[in-house]
Amino acid sequence: MSSKVAIVTGANKGIGQSLVRRLALEHTFSSLTIYLTARDAVRGERALRDVRAALEAEGAAGRSEVRFATCDVADVGSIRGLRSWVEKEVGGVDILVNNAGIGDEFHGLPTTPSLAEETIRINYYGLLNMCETFLPILRPSARIVNLSSGVGKLYNLGSRDLEREFRSKDLSVERLNALVDQFVDDVRTGTYQTRGWPGSWPAYSVSKIAVIALTGVLAHQLVGDPREIAVHVCDPGWTRTDMGGETAPKSADQGAQTPIFLALSPEASATSLAGNGRFWGNNRVTAW
Ligand SMILES: NC(=O)c1ccc[n+]([C@@H]2O[C@H](COP(=O)([O-])OP(=O)(O)OC[C@H]3O[C@@H](n4cnc5c(N)ncnc54)[C@H](OP(=O)(O)O)[C@@H]3O)[C@@H](O)[C@H]2O)c1
Repeated sequence: MSSKVAIVTGANKGIGQSLVRRLALEHTFSSLTIYLTARDAVRGERALRDVRAALEAEGAAGRSEVRFATCDVADVGSIRGLRSWVEKEVGGVDILVNNAGIGDEFHGLPTTPSLAEETIRINYYGLLNMCETFLPILRPSARIVNLSSGVGKLYNLGSRDLEREFRSKDLSVERLNALVDQFVDDVRTGTYQTRGWPGSWPAYSVSKIAVIALTGVLAHQLVGDPREIAVHVCDPGWTRTDMGGETAPKSADQGAQTPIFLALSPEASATSLAGNGRFWGNNRVTAW
């Protein structure tokens, strides 16, 4: 088994931090270097210390090397900087987990134009820019694991025309960008409710619908790529984090379960029976 490299975005707390620790504990490669990335260096370095201490306490300190690198997914320059750094240090990437996200509407903030724009910029465009920037340096059999949500399911839309657009076999990244930009415009003009965008947590929900649709588009683009790259999207389930709140049923480690499965299990390779570009929950392909 060869030496591998993983990147996790938004890993300074919550599910992302658990993902780093569980990857370090559960991989079966000869060695694994994991980049714990965060937009804030102080929070990221603190998380790095916590993860290293936890691994030490679990007797697994030598199984993986965990490094910190800054990455603000809302900033293309920051993403490109991470790619240059990783390329210089280790040459390529085997596992990319796009975990970073915001959900300000869950904290009671109203869906203003600036909230909608920021949510789409981080949750959708940030993830898209991570995928597009890192695709050229993904190694054979690499995996991309995208974090979406149960509120990214299409029944949250109140318009069958919108649903058809997101489901379309001809969907492209350009069309998807136009759809999410239309949502932000509709928030700006106060028409988003009448146009059939989701009624609850609309900005977060649209961003996560778009992430699921994008994963399908990427899988389509990867057909014929000799590297046989897997790209998956999942709902981690309602999880006790700053985003999910204290009453959520899952711990952060349990929330990390499905993304870890998709990153490591042979059942989630690009050539597995489950197929590429699918939406997963509880370690199974699930209905979108
Ligand atoms: N918790 C749930 O119940 C639940 C359910 C379904 C889906 N999810 C999804 O699971 C993922 C992780 O959620 P969580 O519950 O662990 O949330 P969380 O505790 O709020 O953590 C979110 C992480 O994303 C980071 N982040 C936000 N904006 C960023 C940016 N521009 N660049 C880089 N990092 C950024 C945050 O960094 P800062 O500390 O700097 O803000 C934090 O590290 C998210 O994609 C979320 O939508 C969560």
